[in-house]
Amino acid sequence: YYGAVVNPQTLKAYQALPRCLLAVSSEGTIDWLVDDVEDSMVLEVMSQKGCVDAEVVPLREGEFLMPGFVDTHTHAPQVPNMGSGQQYELLDWLDNVTFPMEANFADVYFARETYSEVVRRIVNCGTTTCCYYGTLHVEATKILAEIIHAKGQRAYVGKCNMDRNSPDYYVEPSPEASVAGTQELISYIRTLSPSPNTTTPLVHPILTPRFAISCTSPLLQSLQSLAVADPSLAIQTHISENPSEIAFTLTLFPDASSYAQVYDSFSLLRENTILAHAVHLRDDEKQLIKERKAGISHCPTSNFNLSSGVAPVGDLLDRGIKVGLGTDVSGGFSPSILTAVQHASIASKVIAMNARDTPDVVKDGVFANHALTIPTLLYLATMGGAEVCCLDKQIGNFSVGKSFDALVVNVGKGNANPPAVWGVPNTTPKGDHTKPKSKKEELDGWLEKFLFCGDDRNIRRVYVQGRLIGGTAFSG
Ligand code: GUN
Ligand code: FE
Repeated sequence: YYGAVVNPQTLKAYQALPRCLLAVSSEGTIDWLVDDVEDSMVLEVMSQKGCVDAEVVPLREGEFLMPGFVDTHTHAPQVPNMGSGQQYELLDWLDNVTFPMEANFADVYFARETYSEVVRRIVNCGTTTCCYYGTLHVEATKILAEIIHAKGQRAYVGKCNMDRNSPDYYVEPSPEASVAGTQELISYIRTLSPSPNTTTPLVHPILTPRFAISCTSPLLQSLQSLAVADPSLAIQTHISENPSEIAFTLTLFPDASSYAQVYDSFSLLRENTILAHAVHLRDDEKQLIKERKAGISHCPTSNFNLSSGVAPVGDLLDRGIKVGLGTDVSGGFSPSILTAVQHASIASKVIAMNARDTPDVVKDGVFANHALTIPTLLYLATMGGAEVCCLDKQIGNFSVGKSFDALVVNVGKGNANPPAVWGVPNTTPKGDHTKPKSKKEELDGWLEKFLFCGDDRNIRRVYVQGRLIGGTAFSG
């Protein structure tokens, strides 16, 4: 690939490389990348690198390459509900909107039709790695995993464990049944063959105790046994999302000192645990999560939409806790990580404004009480998500040896997302008498515009492990 490349590096910095030559192996991994290559030098650099036969894919004017998005938390069966139930907070929303929809996935025909559309849509939004919750149904969740696998997306897929505090028509009959279904799904996912060009599987199973409220102690104990027997098994659940949810949780587990401690008492807080929301955690819970090296999925669209609260992401980052972004459809009303980026920015600005207007707030954090910057937002959407998924050795940015999970983004002329929104690349607006922008500054501007005004119309190509699987230029 030859052209503009955006390459995240740290929470505070990314590389903007306007003339980059990036080589991808037939296994879909990144062989090398060279910056500052003039047009006339492309063939020479390639011959120096010993790959004269390789095909060069030139990026067009107004296009750039960036790592794919990581969605660390979403619910596939809730996609048909996006936008519905605005009037509710979490627990009423689950009862009135969410459980009735999820119950439909007892029907495997409905599941297959719906999940095919869901996965296609999420991939076209630029999500190359996704952590999916299915329903409590084993068969429907197998179908979800099969569809993701066939599509070629990287993913974690889990069926919900829920054996109490759920409606009669949508609840598991016993802890034993819940665990047996979970084991069946794990075995099934592990038999799916690796992707065509690699020996590494892209779809992984994940334990999914829905949240403490919906799981009896015997169920959590059985999941603990599964998790302890297999440290490679990832875990996902919800934590400290809504005040009524937290209060109810503590009445169900009267011996627990906190919500986080409920999970910890069943050995469910560990390095490969993904905790969604974390809006109202106390200091001791944050400390426990940090000690256990678990990661947080920040779901700001959902946290605003369900009036849950504003998660203190800057504080979590200052403490060195891993943070990624989640869409949490349909608590969140958009399947796109771009929307999560926009709301993560707004959430951080709400916190920063409150801190500014509250004289006694200590403002000594690096990230806490400040608006998140573009490098930080980009990091959360890519490398942060990769860390939360324990996939940071494989994905998150364009480092040599990592997988080529990438997007070709188009912000230029002729794009469906009108140039009126974007301005025409490479021109200085009339009346702007400052010096012309450098190529690097121009690319910085494209990234910022894409993150805040972009949508799936700007995503031309979506690659996972080097394989083209989606985007507006994909027909398949
Ligand atoms: N807590 C338990 N289940 C859910 C869910 O489906 N969505 C959200 N946002 N929170 C939950
Ligand atoms: Fe959720």
